[in-house]
Parts: sequence; structure tokens; C-alpha cells
Amino acid sequence: METKYTIRHRETIRKFRSGITTEQLLPLLEAGIWAPNHGKREPWRFIIFNTESAYQKLTHAYRESGATIPYFEKMLEEKEFPTLVVVVLPRNPEAKKYREDLLAHGSLIQNIQLAAWEEGIGVVWKTNFLRPSVQKTFGINEDEEVTGFLLLGTFSAQAQDSNRERQPLVEKLTIIGE
Ligand SMILES: Cc1cc2nc3c(=O)[nH]c(=O)nc-3n(C[C@H](O)[C@H](O)[C@H](O)COP(=O)(O)O)c2cc1C
Repeated sequence: METKYTIRHRETIRKFRSGITTEQLLPLLEAGIWAPNHGKREPWRFIIFNTESAYQKLTHAYRESGATIPYFEKMLEEKEFPTLVVVVLPRNPEAKKYREDLLAHGSLIQNIQLAAWEEGIGVVWKTNFLRPSVQKTFGINEDEEVTGFLLLGTFSAQAQDSNRERQPLVEKLTIIGE
């Protein structure tokens, strides 16, 4: 697929049929880590949840911290387990580097989403599960933070959104010099 075509047609998928295997996942993360990043810091690491027992651990940790996440509870109930990748950023103490590293994560995650789309694998990038109190349980240190919970899996056409739109580019343009 041509890059521009993939960019235009990729969309967020929120309802999955099944997760993916580690063999399917690794090339997607491999595409991710070719993201531009300043100072060659490669400021990322990943934690993967890919089985029912991993989801049980995850849900248990949230419950323990008093922050039940209905999304995970429902998955356990329905026995539907998309692959979950937690994307971790080592927090650089220098503000400028922290900002650069955070921006690099946007490229990292979009690379993963595009590579997945080309393989017919859907992704949703979630941030609304962020709970620092739970992060410790999964070995995320105090000098790290989570930039995304990526849920990945196979999906059916009904999971797609026929109403995706963007405002016209012209409304976002200031051209100086013409
Ligand atoms: C930084 C960031 C955080 C996001 N967090 C969430 C989230 O917490 N829950 C969710 O359902 N989608 C989340 N999304 C996905 C967006 O809602 C989605 O990209 C947007 O609706 C545009 O749809 P599209 O990806 O199909 O173009 C997030 C996207 C980004 C870039």
C-alpha cells in the first residue's frame, strides 16, 4: 500500500474480534521504533498483555487501587482480549528533552498504527486508562510515564466508522509570502 493511502484510510478501531499473536505484533513495534527521535535517545519501551490471565492481573491491579475500568471488566466478562501494548516513556529531567521525547512518541505510535492497518489489524490508542497508582504494579518506575494503551486486534467491517471527517485543510493554512 502506498504510504499516503494508508495514512488517509487508517482509522481507529474500538471493537475487536480477537487479539494478535506475538509474531504478528513484533513487526508492528519494529516499524514503530523507526520513528524520528532527537539525540538518538529512542525513549520508549513496551509492556504487552496478551492472554486472559494477563488481563486478569491488569484488572485486579486496577480494582486494588480502587479505579475499576469498566472497559477491562467487560473484556473479562465477554472473554474478548485484544492485544494490549502499554507504551512507556522514560521521563527526561530536562524539559526540552522531555518535550522532544513526548513528541517522538506520537510518531512511534502512529508508525505502529499505520503498520498494523496495512496488515488488516485495527488499533485504538487509549489514554483514559492512565492511573499512576496502577503503573507501579507493572514495573513502571516513578521516572517513567505511559503515553498510550494500544489495543490491537482483528475486526469486522461493522467496527469501521463511515463518518470520518477532517476540516478542510485550507482553514488551517496561513501562507506567508504569496
Ligand atoms: C493522544 C491521543 C489520545 C487518545 N486517547 C483516546 C482514548 O483515551 N480513548 C479513545 O477511545 N480514543 C482515544 N484516542 C483516539 C482518538 O479518539 C481518535 O484518533 C480520533 O477519534 C480520530 O479518529 P481516527 O483515529 O479514526 O482518525 C486518542 C488519540 C490520541 C492521538
